[in-house]
Amino acid sequence: MMFVEAQGLTKIYTPKGAPPVRALDGLDLSVPQGSVTALLGPNGAGKTTTVKVLTTLITPSSGSAFIDGIDVLKHPGSIRPLIGVSGQYAAVDENLTGFENLDMVGRLYHLGAKASRQRAHELIELFDLSDAANRPVKGFSGGMRRRIDLAGALVTRPKVLFLDEPTTGLDPRSRLGMWDVITTLVGEGTTVLLTTQYLEEADRLADSICVIDDGKVIARGTANELKASFGGQRLELNLVTAGDSATVAQILALVGDAEPAVSADGHELSVSAQNAPAALQEVLAELESRGIKLYDAGMRRPTLDDVFLRLTGHGAEDHVAKDGGS
Ligand SMILES: Nc1ncnc2c1ncn2[C@@H]1O[C@H](COP(=O)(O)OP(=O)(O)OP(=O)(O)O)[C@@H](O)[C@H]1O
Ligand SMILES: [Mg+2]
Repeated sequence: MMFVEAQGLTKIYTPKGAPPVRALDGLDLSVPQGSVTALLGPNGAGKTTTVKVLTTLITPSSGSAFIDGIDVLKHPGSIRPLIGVSGQYAAVDENLTGFENLDMVGRLYHLGAKASRQRAHELIELFDLSDAANRPVKGFSGGMRRRIDLAGALVTRPKVLFLDEPTTGLDPRSRLGMWDVITTLVGEGTTVLLTTQYLEEADRLADSICVIDDGKVIARGTANELKASFGGQRLELNLVTAGDSATVAQILALVGDAEPAVSADGHELSVSAQNAPAALQEVLAELESRGIKLYDAGMRRPTLDDVFLRLTGHGAEDHVAKDGGS
């Protein structure tokens, strides 16, 4: 059963004194119950807009969305008890302590005083925030805010959790901690839709990935399916002498199935090839005969980065300027 389903979502923002912006352009999405789906896309792709539509914060210009079979547009009030949201920018009360923030969420959801306090204690523990529980949030680091914000989204044990870039700005240790928490929640049956610009995060957490750009899904599948769709492997060479790069690029062009990539310093070259082992042998023999020296040579499977770059024509973390209309 699809727990979250969206069809043909469009959203056109009409900012005052500026041309309209088509943030969503016919986006389709389906998230099976108990799974993690990642919306992967560059800046401005429409990730936050999608989350806002699905969490009833904004209405789309057209299209439909359902959560647990309930129409998000017709019955937003019935959707809200089912969902938890952790927005891209942490929404916490600066003057309250970490504990008080969580306790307040429980009270707002009418859990009752005792249950609210108990849930707040559990979440402080889960998010490793015991040290910070009794300090006002305004003294928290960015990573601590992020964790309190996610903890706030979990107070009511929602069936589906929307996480908008849950680990942006976290240090590697906090990121791993966040991944563990998300994995645990999914293990307990929570359905998760998360957005990310990190290919590694999508690779690690998501059962299914939707690559989005310009407000629509441009590819979807598991990380392995997306990588397989990329075709062959990549050959990578690391040259001792950067001056050899032009010659080596010509050799790689003969065995590869695309234009070889050359690093700015001229030392690293790579190309994708269908039969990478044979191509590598051929290249090495040719370099040997010409006396071209290597530090390193190898093959690797394509990464999600390669896939992303080819699909969107730019990297995941590039800033994309986008203007109105289209
Ligand atoms: N309130 C708004 N008014 C006008 N344009 C908006 C508004 N919110 C978003 N947009 C535009 O809609 C497009 C999609 O924005 P959105 O925030 O959904 O992208 P995103 O994928 O979340 O990007 P990021 O990775 O930077 O968070 C962008 O071009 C953005 O400038
Ligand atoms: Mg965003």
